[in-house]
Amino acid sequence: MKIKSAEFVISNQDVNKCPSNNLPEYAFIGRSNVGKSSLINMLTSRKNLAKTSGRPGKTQLINHFIINKNWYLVDLPGYGYAKVSKSSKKTFQKFITLYFEQRKQLVSAFVLIDVRHKPQPIDLKFMEWLGEHQIPFSIVFTKVDKLKPKAIENHIEIYKAILLETWEDMPNYFITSSSKSIGKDELLNYIEKTNIDVKDLF
Ligand code: GTP
Ligand code: MG
Repeated sequence: MKIKSAEFVISNQDVNKCPSNNLPEYAFIGRSNVGKSSLINMLTSRKNLAKTSGRPGKTQLINHFIINKNWYLVDLPGYGYAKVSKSSKKTFQKFITLYFEQRKQLVSAFVLIDVRHKPQPIDLKFMEWLGEHQIPFSIVFTKVDKLKPKAIENHIEIYKAILLETWEDMPNYFITSSSKSIGKDELLNYIEKTNIDVKDLF
């Protein structure tokens, strides 16, 4: 799919204030610093569309970006970041939870996992929660530029083994690097195909 336009629309903490037009959307979620905002920039070939930072906790709101004027990418705050104050951490969790529970236009989530780390309970729990709420998702392994091919393969095999303890099938997954533009076509083709599949719902 060709990205002809990518524009920031609105940021907020309230799912009820997200864009009210009926267009399919895809949300990026995962631990702070995993590379959610960078991935949005990579997919859209726009360097600073979503704000990124080396320090975790950069994205603090629900951010909508409209792509080709007919679907949305949504950048969300990260979870699992200990340094934000307890009360604001709670707020994040609440409004992110409400976003996933209530956002009717959400077609699918992308759960980002840093390929370098061994499976973390918080990510596995979040995926389980999505499953319980029947929210479709794919896994996106990020930062694969940081490992050699053999190590990437090993880490993904370990991940698969853990997931297959809970899931009947391995969820759909992508292997990406925002700094090296790896996985871009695969992700965009997946979104293009999904947009066609859900066309009758919008
Ligand atoms: P929060 O908004 O804080 O939740 O973080 P985020 O998940 O949006 O991460 P962000 O995109 O801001 O990236 C965090 C850091 O990881 C930045 O320093 C990025 O440059 C770096 N980064 C992101 N993707 C990649 C990647 O594919 N490869 C490498 N080497 N670094 C990356
Ligand atoms: Mg971010």
